[in-house]
Amino acid sequence: MPAPRTYEIVVLPGDGVGPEVTAAAQAVLSVIGDFFEHKFRFREHLIGGAAIDATGDPLPPETVTACLAADAVLLGAVGGPKWDGGARRPEEGLLGLRKAMGLFANLRPLQVSPVLAHRSPLKREIVEGVDLIVFRELTGGIYFGEKTRTADRATDLCVYTVPEIERIARAAFRTAQLRRGKVTSVDKANVMETSRLWREVVTRIHAEEFPRVELEHALVDSMAMHLIRKPREYDVILTENMFGDILSDEISVLGGSIGLLPSASLGEAGSPGLFEPIHGSAPDIAGQDKANPVGTILSAALMLRHSLGLEEEAASIEAAVAAVLSAGAVTPDLGGTLGTRAAANAVIDGLRAIHWAAAHRIQMHWA
Ligand code: IPM
Ligand code: MG
Repeated sequence: MPAPRTYEIVVLPGDGVGPEVTAAAQAVLSVIGDFFEHKFRFREHLIGGAAIDATGDPLPPETVTACLAADAVLLGAVGGPKWDGGARRPEEGLLGLRKAMGLFANLRPLQVSPVLAHRSPLKREIVEGVDLIVFRELTGGIYFGEKTRTADRATDLCVYTVPEIERIARAAFRTAQLRRGKVTSVDKANVMETSRLWREVVTRIHAEEFPRVELEHALVDSMAMHLIRKPREYDVILTENMFGDILSDEISVLGGSIGLLPSASLGEAGSPGLFEPIHGSAPDIAGQDKANPVGTILSAALMLRHSLGLEEEAASIEAAVAAVLSAGAVTPDLGGTLGTRAAANAVIDGLRAIHWAAAHRIQMHWA
């Protein structure tokens, strides 16, 4: 067992259900810390609407400084109708932080478990066994190009450079090598110049560095269709910022609830990553102990794996989540009756069972 170590985790609860789901994930991490003899030191900072309310700024400078100095960052969600029409938007905080931390690769994995396939709006035979991961470029494209506005005209510039495309493409190909060996690169090369550059660069990186990975190109409009017709065919989906935003929301419904899905946003090796559920701030259920904490708990598992190098700890969280989902210990979005805290406690009970079994060398069927 590695020597006990203290990990500095910045927690950005944000808005809506953010504080509830990050609290749930922190509770799970604390139990992991006890079992594996690590210490997680959590420090909360402001972002989004909560930061606008407190300071007028959706991304206070202290938040950026703390995130850059941390081992990893755990985020809840930002945004809500409360801040519509204001001078600053909560989302600016998240976008600014992605840029400041250099988080160019956004990983959004999806596996549809057999026990939840019936919750999907699609037929079981289409979704059962889906196992894919989206690699979304996160710090370029139309999100960050120049924006202009006059009374009767607005523009958003879409810009990509060769190095920006190369680094996300390499990340996707490397991951494909460890999975089923297939990358589907999504663009709109029949219309957009940035997409033509994207396709050229991805094709070259593939030929020069990853010839054994299978590469296919897809146009984003037909990809949107294929993803609900034959999602099982995809392994790694590589795409730019805006297309990745849209397609990952589409994909999120395949597994029955967006509340289950985690994400990791990563920068250069050795820099802190940011981990957050895919879902938004859900202001309609905020503060009611109704939100599904699983997406954030699984994001904490990704944090252990990708930023802290704690693979066994990550896998035990994932095993505990799989066990509670199989047992039907779930929140109302999945047809269950548990509240946020009770669902997190179910995961913690699962972790205790796994830990106890491991300590007694008992092989649990789901561990
Ligand atoms: C996401 C969200 C963000 C995005 C918003 C909140 C700015 O939709 O992470 O997918 O568009 O990237
Ligand atoms: Mg989105």
